[in-house]
Amino acid sequence: MANDIKLISGTSHPDLAQEIADCLGLSLTQSEMVRFGNENILFQCNENVRESDVFVIQTSCPPVSDGILELLIMIDALKHASARRITAVMPYFPYARSDKKDRPRISITARLIADLLETAGADRVLTMNLHSPQVQGFFRIPVDQLDATPLVCDHLLDAMPLENTVLVAGDVGEAKDLEHYAHRLNLPMAIIDKRRHDDSEQAVAVGLIGDVDGRDTLIVDDEIASGGTLIAAADYLQSQGAKRIEAAAMHPVMSGNAKAKLDGSPIGRVVVTNSIPIPAERRSSKVEVVSIAGLLANAIGAIHSGSSVSALFR
Ligand code: R5P
Repeated sequence: MANDIKLISGTSHPDLAQEIADCLGLSLTQSEMVRFGNENILFQCNENVRESDVFVIQTSCPPVSDGILELLIMIDALKHASARRITAVMPYFPYARSDKKDRPRISITARLIADLLETAGADRVLTMNLHSPQVQGFFRIPVDQLDATPLVCDHLLDAMPLENTVLVAGDVGEAKDLEHYAHRLNLPMAIIDKRRHDDSEQAVAVGLIGDVDGRDTLIVDDEIASGGTLIAAADYLQSQGAKRIEAAAMHPVMSGNAKAKLDGSPIGRVVVTNSIPIPAERRSSKVEVVSIAGLLANAIGAIHSGSSVSALFR
């Protein structure tokens, strides 16, 4: 039927795709992804999508490069199957940290991904909590960026007493996002001065703007990759007299030995979203996961009906 919604999942996060479909009361469109012996990928959509409003759900998680290529192949296939509009639903945007030319002769890879998505035939992008909002400007097509801060804050309010808490940005770059938490939770802020000296993912906390002595603390960051930033911040806060140390982050990349680092750290709990699946072997018992499926489903519904997506944040 023309103009109906089709939800199609890539292989990166089928559980989230199913949850979104459940929230919308829809079934996922039947499709298949074949990997040949030569590592080439074949995607086939097994239902008619002619004139449909198609949402392709593919987050970024290992194997990252395969996930990107899968998404491009899916979009290309759907374009040639005469979909009316194709929205790439990318809860965690790949290469979001490669958003600037901060040293000579490197690629601004987030912009390259934007170009590739447009070339493949994406008409829109729906994403969430970008590492830096300017990534939206890399596109000529519309990009809706969702903010899961309210969901995470609601979880924090239910899960723990926050009266004596100071919110702590894991680094200066996170200070802007911290404002959203501070506004919503009505709590004071502090900022860690974090330095990285090379690409070894070794983060060093060298200072703190604010006072945490005798206070509970909640470290906020946009993502946990190697866990270096979080653990450096937690150790530093402990050295400055912080009592309880908790953390919240949007995207649980959990690469390398992040789980072991978290398990051995003074952090009590870490609240994250399910923008990225966490395999059992990388999942610390300290991690609490808040689902973004409802938020994404509402945004998909709003895009389909042409109503305001920003109204979802109010
Ligand atoms: C950096 O600018 C980000 O906001 C995060 O602090 C960073 O991506 C976390 O990475 P890791 O866990 O490897 O320290």
